[in-house]
Amino acid sequence: MNIGALEEHYKSELVPLYDREEAKSLFSLAAEQVLLLSPGKLMMQKDTEISFINEQKLLSILNDLQIGKPIQHILEEAHFYGLVFKVNEHVLIPRPETEELVEWIISVCSSQFTVNEAKILDIGTGSGCIPITLKKHLPNAEVSTLDVSGEAIAVAKHNAQQIGVEVDFLEADILTFQSKDKFDIIVSNPPYIRYLEKLEMHTNVLLHEPHLALFVSDENPLLFYKAIADFAKTNLKPKGQLFFEINEYLDKETIEMLDDKGFINIDLRKDMQGKDRMVRAEI
Ligand SMILES: C[S@@+](CC[C@H](N)C(=O)[O-])C[C@H]1O[C@@H](n2cnc3c(N)ncnc32)[C@H](O)[C@@H]1O
Repeated sequence: MNIGALEEHYKSELVPLYDREEAKSLFSLAAEQVLLLSPGKLMMQKDTEISFINEQKLLSILNDLQIGKPIQHILEEAHFYGLVFKVNEHVLIPRPETEELVEWIISVCSSQFTVNEAKILDIGTGSGCIPITLKKHLPNAEVSTLDVSGEAIAVAKHNAQQIGVEVDFLEADILTFQSKDKFDIIVSNPPYIRYLEKLEMHTNVLLHEPHLALFVSDENPLLFYKAIADFAKTNLKPKGQLFFEINEYLDKETIEMLDDKGFINIDLRKDMQGKDRMVRAEI
């Protein structure tokens, strides 16, 4: 089969699960990795015959896609802020809205800290996408991160090594974690989806992403935000800043909670899809 024919095969086989454009970009991602071709070359070489071995690999990826596995898990990598991160079943696949949170922090640090020497703590490491990207773009910052999942920490450590940055990793539970360290910036994208929101979710996410990274109880959805805000009250330096990715449906509740705890200059931002998604607050 040639590249063009296999792309058409992907589109016709995947359409019940994905639309044709999504199916096309899934084929591109798979073909780029298997055939080692850039997206441009892939477009230009539609008539090129694929070797038997590579055809088998691409058909096996198609099988995995048909059973709902996310492409990032099949290829074991995800792109985030121009960097490539290893991902597996133990870590959340980094999301575009989190790139926007990182962008916000980089711009704040670049303008407010001399030569970007901020001391930064990220809570809920996952793949390490937040702390590693921050360190990459703010090389003078001192960045540490924690996660309750040892498996996630292992993936993130691997990513830090691959990307070539130094980040301190700690396996710890933020609900009980205490520290004497003081930070300029504390950032977190904690679990924030209520079980009642499960019905809105794509089965890909439900079946293949770690529930530890996603869900909180319907009764206490701000559990992590409250614990992190309390931690930030004692562990932020004067004028230190707290950044959260938030649940779009809980923006008012999150702001009210921060206000009740005495945070000031609370700033809510929308993501590119127009959803209330990020908050910054100062002590
Ligand atoms: C929504 S994911 C975010 C992962 C990553 N920061 C990102 O943005 O892609 C939340 C992370 O919090 C971690 N987590 C869950 N409960 C935790 C706890 N009690 N203490 C510390 N981390 C926790 C999960 O293992 C998961 O990696």
